[in-house]
Amino acid sequence: MSTAAERDYLLGTDEEELRRLQAQHDTWHPETADLWERADFNVGQAILDLGCGPGFISLELAERVGAEGRVLAVDGSPKFADFLRHRAASAGLQQVEVAVADVRTLDLPTASMDAAFARWLLCFIEEPQGVIERVAQVLKTGGRLVVVDYCAYGAFVARIEYPHLRRVLQAVHESFGGRLDIGGKLPELMARCGLEAVEVVPIGGIARPGNRIWRWIEQFLRVYLPELVVRGALREEECTAHWEEWQANARDPQASISSPPMVGVIGLKV
Ligand SMILES: C[S@@+](CC[C@H](N)C(=O)[O-])C[C@H]1O[C@@H](n2cnc3c(N)ncnc32)[C@H](O)[C@@H]1O
Repeated sequence: MSTAAERDYLLGTDEEELRRLQAQHDTWHPETADLWERADFNVGQAILDLGCGPGFISLELAERVGAEGRVLAVDGSPKFADFLRHRAASAGLQQVEVAVADVRTLDLPTASMDAAFARWLLCFIEEPQGVIERVAQVLKTGGRLVVVDYCAYGAFVARIEYPHLRRVLQAVHESFGGRLDIGGKLPELMARCGLEAVEVVPIGGIARPGNRIWRWIEQFLRVYLPELVVRGALREEECTAHWEEWQANARDPQASISSPPMVGVIGLKV
């Protein structure tokens, strides 16, 4: 039986999406670990991993906080939660606790966590303010909420020259209904509930055929475009034309695409 959060998650929770999330985690690992350093995620802390997915982050945070720390990993997908429980148990990481819950109705003790992390979660949530408010309550004073998400997704579309890719990215952008621009709004959303955005770090890069960002964009489109076709947001012919163009570009050593702009925001509970 699927949960409401799972049904609302646009990318699905099958094996292909699980593999995509692993690859995506590997792609953006340096930028993610840099944010944890900046936010002083450390040994002995209690850290909330919100919308943890299959938990690639949770497992690393568990190593970071050590046996005396705690990672509470929350996701709406029972399948992802099972995967993480299994991985944590086989790695002997008893400090990982996994909960299947909807982050929109999260109910945790006030001031019980040192830090929280949410990567590519809020772009799937229609009312992110409510989630940020709940997390702000759960954090101790001096605790940090770190969010990684998209901002100005339209810039991804505008800066590329490939017409068929442009069309599919437009369909992707529209399908999220403006939520892919959440990154730029984070400082204000945080400020409304007592979190001061002490750092705003731009994240992105240039995709060249075969590099990590190129593969990341390709894998996302392979998972998501069929879903857009099913929903009638994209025509099958548009999809086919895009993949033909993509393959041609993949053979062109001059091809380059900017990644969608992202941002890492560190909110300090004051
Ligand atoms: C793109 S994945 C990111 C996973 C992980 N944060 C990462 O960076 O690898 C988004 C995750 O958020 C979860 N999610 C989306 N909406 C949710 C909600 N309302 N409550 C709980 N989890 C949610 C999905 O199930 C999915 O696992």
